[in-house]
Amino acid sequence: HAGDAAKGEKVFKKCAACHAVGEGAQNKVGPHLNDILGRTAGTGEDFKYSKPMIDAGKAGLVWDEASLTTYLEKPRDMIKGTKMAFAGLRKQEDLENVIAYLATFSGS
Ligand code: HEM
Repeated sequence: HAGDAAKGEKVFKKCAACHAVGEGAQNKVGPHLNDILGRTAGTGEDFKYSKPMIDAGKAGLVWDEASLTTYLEKPRDMIKGTKMAFAGLRKQEDLENVIAYLATFSGS
């Protein structure tokens, strides 16, 4: 829970090929990640998600610190069949920091 958003901004470089955040962020290969904390999985506007991601949201998956940690550690283990082609972040530190960074673009 002691994530460092400034360090997380550097970690986010691994995500930025596919995801945008901040003012005017658009969907790219992946959905934009503004307000990701509190978003029901698979419900970003105008993005074509995989069926497994949509089903996870329908089953009640909401992105918070805990669920993001699990997903970002091993995306394809948590959501079998996700189309996010990313192996995951191994370091606990990187996970905490990137989530802290994302949190700066969530809520008001
Ligand atoms: C989905 C975060 C890296 C492509 C997602 C979602 C999150 C996320 C939270 C779920 C969004 C939602 O439910 O609206 C991240 C973070 C990354 C990362 C923090 C870096 C640590 C990547 C990379 C790619 C990618 C490198 C492309 C190679 C996608 C795609 C989806 C997705 C295509 C939709 C998945 C589906 O519908 O199954 N990402 N991502 N992501 N991401 Fe990433």
